[in-house]
Amino acid sequence: MKKILITGGAGFIGSHLVRLFVKKYPTYHIYNLDKLTYAGNLENLKDIEKYPNYTFIKGDIVDAKFISQLFENEKFDNIIHLAAESHVDRSIYSPMDFIYTNIVGTANLLNAARSIWENNYEEHRFYHISTDEVYGSLGETGHFIETTPYSPHSPYSASKASSDHLVRAYHDTFGMNNVISNCSNNYGPNQFPEKLIPLCINNILHNKPLPVYGTGKNVRDWLYVEDHAKAIDTIFHKGLSGQTYNIGGNNEWTNIDIVKKLIEIMDEELGRPQGTSMSLITYVKDRAGHDLRYAIDASKLKRELGWEPSIKFTEGFRLTVKWYLNNQEWLQNVTSGAYQKYYEQMYTNH
Ligand code: NAD
Ligand code: TYD
Repeated sequence: MKKILITGGAGFIGSHLVRLFVKKYPTYHIYNLDKLTYAGNLENLKDIEKYPNYTFIKGDIVDAKFISQLFENEKFDNIIHLAAESHVDRSIYSPMDFIYTNIVGTANLLNAARSIWENNYEEHRFYHISTDEVYGSLGETGHFIETTPYSPHSPYSASKASSDHLVRAYHDTFGMNNVISNCSNNYGPNQFPEKLIPLCINNILHNKPLPVYGTGKNVRDWLYVEDHAKAIDTIFHKGLSGQTYNIGGNNEWTNIDIVKKLIEIMDEELGRPQGTSMSLITYVKDRAGHDLRYAIDASKLKRELGWEPSIKFTEGFRLTVKWYLNNQEWLQNVTSGAYQKYYEQMYTNH
């Protein structure tokens, strides 16, 4: 049985990936290594936790001794690395967590993998999951391609850029079988409600203001999370060593239009007269260093490995809203306690 380590598997994207792999590949044993920060939630994996080919390991990728011991004991065959601090606003208030987890944590995993795979790299893949935010900000036209120079503007994107450089350098220097993908914004079930879409769903539900940063004209390219998981599956199995693949939804929206679309669907699903929740839109102070536009050219992935998004935005968006409405207990659990404090700190000064 192949032993696959997935880091960050209790988070938003990681939980969808773990589920996909556990169910689709009974001959792989999936080890989910997660520190269970505020963003990690084992509730996300309740339906598969008893599968015989699944094991959860609680641990911190920043702890080099723990990581090297774990790799010595388990001798994983492959790694798909998602564990990260992932929220831009938190990186503005508290950059060091991002530097430790995203940079040092990735270096620890690379070093531990080297020590067990040395001289046999071609059989062992290290797949690093990254973001389009490393490329910086676009103007009103153009798209990010795999060779677009890195130009990160937030501590989050700078820390992800650093980890990408390390992964590439370990391929170039040591010959490790490393692959990177850079994906656009994901949406879907189980996303922590600090991010725009679940935050607005939660606030519409409770008739709270919808904080739109700046003019609301910033643009993001949205991809349904299960399509991202399928892209990771494709790249893990078919991607070439040393390559980078962009993943995107070809689905650009301004933030204000996304919020208005959410209001339309939520009002309908909640049985409120259309437009009721429009008055909740509240323009607030812009995010520092706010990137204007992200847009991914994912044609390499389609051309070379045959992946393209399968879920239309209208379908995915409706599914997402329905999931949060049907899982209000999940929302309540993750927004109680520490989240309240974060929310107050983040939004009262705006
Ligand atoms: P998330 O914040 O929902 O989950 C991150 C997970 O990592 C959590 O389960 C958390 O407990 C775990 N974690 C954090 N620090 C850790 C540590 N030190 N040791 C072990 N585990 C730790 O994030 P997400 O949105 O699912 O993103 C997953 C990955 O995908 C990240 O690498 C992110 O940069 C990348 N990505 C995200 C998006 C997006 O739109 N969310 C887009 C492109 C790329
Ligand atoms: P977010 O979901 O944090 O993802 P990212 O910053 O990684 O793109 O934010 C998406 C967009 O929405 C981004 O342009 C910032 C904006 N935004 C708001 O306008 N209000 C909010 O409360 C949040 C969290 C984000």
